[in-house]
Amino acid sequence: MNPVLPGAPWLIAHRSMIRVNRPYKVTLNGQDYVLWQSDRGEIFALNNVCPHMQAPLSDGWICKQRNTISCPFHALEFDGEGRLQREGKQNTQIIAQPLKLKVIGDCIWAYGDCEPRTDIPGIVEQIASEYDFVGIAGEKTIRGDFLNVWSINSDFNHQNGTHRELFQIVQNQMTKFDKDGYWYKVEQESTRAKNSFGELLSNPVLFTIPKIFKSTVEYFFPSVLVLYGQTGIGSFVQVVVQYPQQDNQTKIYELIFAKLKAPWIKPLLRQSMLKAI
Ligand code: FES
Repeated sequence: MNPVLPGAPWLIAHRSMIRVNRPYKVTLNGQDYVLWQSDRGEIFALNNVCPHMQAPLSDGWICKQRNTISCPFHALEFDGEGRLQREGKQNTQIIAQPLKLKVIGDCIWAYGDCEPRTDIPGIVEQIASEYDFVGIAGEKTIRGDFLNVWSINSDFNHQNGTHRELFQIVQNQMTKFDKDGYWYKVEQESTRAKNSFGELLSNPVLFTIPKIFKSTVEYFFPSVLVLYGQTGIGSFVQVVVQYPQQDNQTKIYELIFAKLKAPWIKPLLRQSMLKAI
């Protein structure tokens, strides 16, 4: 496929998505890559095609002593630079294609095989320094091309339809809009239905949402959009990440952060919050 928005930075994974010493496959702009993380937290990435007979390296295994990945077919072993290792000795020649990564805190960014044309937005790093990380929510591949998925997920006026059932939102109003180049920001007020106690008990997340819920959404096209919400128990941030996998396939997941008034409730709410999102 022709890369979508070549030169744009993509947040291809959060560190917590990659199990230590296990291969993790990422597809970006039609190209498969394999990532792995060492005991010491170093992240490596190679093109997912073995240069010998094209087996997918992500089906192989990691040697944690040498930080290498072995191919599942004939067990050739490569380090994170793509150099062959033989009987513990390193070859100097790069034969498996490495993917250039930019690891910022726990966020793993890449431009794929394209030259960078825009900077990585600093917003996720800033949020991570101010809020506690709660977890990853909604990780899935959506059938749809990237720009359509972005435009659907950017529709700030969907709350009273899409979120009517789960969050009982019945009305949504934009109160402010700002824009500067590829960045834009929406402030909005969403009204929650009058819920019975039984409804609140069956969906505990509703306890955290005030009757008039004020939120702000900041868009950093095309990498992330960020929803800031204020509830009775504290504030939370949803970082919605999207990147193109194939012409008609888009990856989406959310990084959830919170600053709770009583931090001890985080373990209690964590699961229901991630599930609801
Ligand atoms: S295909 Fe990978 S080692 Fe042969």
